[in-house]
Amino acid sequence: MKDENFLKANNARSLWHPMTAPADSLANPPTIITGGEGVRIRDIDGHEVVDGVGGLWNVNLGYSCQPVKAAIAAQLDRLPYYSIFRGTSNDAVIELSEELRTFFAPDGLTRAFYTSGGSDSVETALRLARQYHKIRGEAGRVKFLSLKKGYHGTHIGGASVNGNANFRTQYEPLLPGCFHIPAPFPFRNPFNEADPARLAQLCLQALEDEIAFQGAGTIAAFIMEPILGAGGVIPPHSSFMPGVEAICRKHGILLIADEVITAFGRTGAWTGSRLWGVKPDFACTAKAITNAYFPFGAVMISDRVAEVFERDDTGRAAIGHGYTYSGHPVGAAAALATLAETKRLNVKDNAAARGAEVMAGLQALMAKYAVIGDVRGGHGLMNAIELVGDRAAKSAPDKAAAGKVQAVAYQAGAMVRVSGPNIILSPPLVLTSADVQVILTALDAGFAAL
Ligand SMILES: Cc1ncc(COP(=O)(O)O)c(C=O)c1O
Repeated sequence: MKDENFLKANNARSLWHPMTAPADSLANPPTIITGGEGVRIRDIDGHEVVDGVGGLWNVNLGYSCQPVKAAIAAQLDRLPYYSIFRGTSNDAVIELSEELRTFFAPDGLTRAFYTSGGSDSVETALRLARQYHKIRGEAGRVKFLSLKKGYHGTHIGGASVNGNANFRTQYEPLLPGCFHIPAPFPFRNPFNEADPARLAQLCLQALEDEIAFQGAGTIAAFIMEPILGAGGVIPPHSSFMPGVEAICRKHGILLIADEVITAFGRTGAWTGSRLWGVKPDFACTAKAITNAYFPFGAVMISDRVAEVFERDDTGRAAIGHGYTYSGHPVGAAAALATLAETKRLNVKDNAAARGAEVMAGLQALMAKYAVIGDVRGGHGLMNAIELVGDRAAKSAPDKAAAGKVQAVAYQAGAMVRVSGPNIILSPPLVLTSADVQVILTALDAGFAAL
């Protein structure tokens, strides 16, 4: 490895960082992370903090998960790669598929299609949804519906169903035939409705209205995150996703659950769909499926959809889609080991218990600091703090405020993430109560410094 001076001097000189302007990375050189252990990361200056971001919602088991590291190393020795395109397979991916089938059985999802990450998984689900209708002779069902404020990755299909202008405007025109309905977001919504249950009903009515307007026979699928993550951690009322499911069923529209963040325990349930008692047609997964140690994903497919493909006699069911790294044996080995550890440690229960502590702590901070307009969470380890200029007016905060909280919190012992006016928390699911207190104390220091 090059020395420290070389790394600091060249930091953002020869690479562009995702999700920021190149000039910003040059003006504000990124923190260089050089080590990780347990739930802590260490930077190039030796400063160590609790990772309140959990990598990027994906290091659920922390940075020292030896069984996953060992599985990757062993698979690299045995078979570092072989494709699963038509005619070949590998042993690791077959074993993983059986494990995933068991894990997702309560969600009614029994087949896997493998990808290299979340955006790939979303793209796969959107494409297979259209194909499902074509196989069934409803070729006109091509449109997609989704939620404003939703996040579905950055491929053209995913960006088109995204509900945040930041990921859309500079890349337009996007895919035609994508339409958005209001998110069930009590703090800000076009209905001016703060009651979560009533708002859920209004958003469901908006969905019915949009379906009537477009014509159900033109719509392939509705895609949503069970809890909206990147859009600012927005847990819908418990009636919302079941309501969406019922409307989709009534109109023959497939339901895609984007579980890239929520699968594998983050919400305090094993999947976000299960949290709400919903059985989607597809579930997009990635991120924590390998504890972040290998880029990998899986789209889980329901029996109902699978049977249409598997029993096809029209010749339209050949899947003209897939990635070189679909079913990568090293990714599969990593996922097998991750799944075993995820279940052994029962991380969903720890996520629920620690998440309750985080939420209580954030509510206490809100009582203390007027700049906090809203705190969100309440389902496992995904939380957001929304900063405001004026609480009653819900006006935008000082542009520098969230960054300042983050910088001071980092010095005080915790890495947190800034996204627009929100500070987002998505720590590893193996967090202890003591780690929760480190994060809360660091945030307190951050807000006190404003
Ligand atoms: C809900 C959701 N879908 C899709 C994606 C895209 O995943 P990736 O960045 O692995 O492509 C993300 C990433 O954060 C996500 O949160």
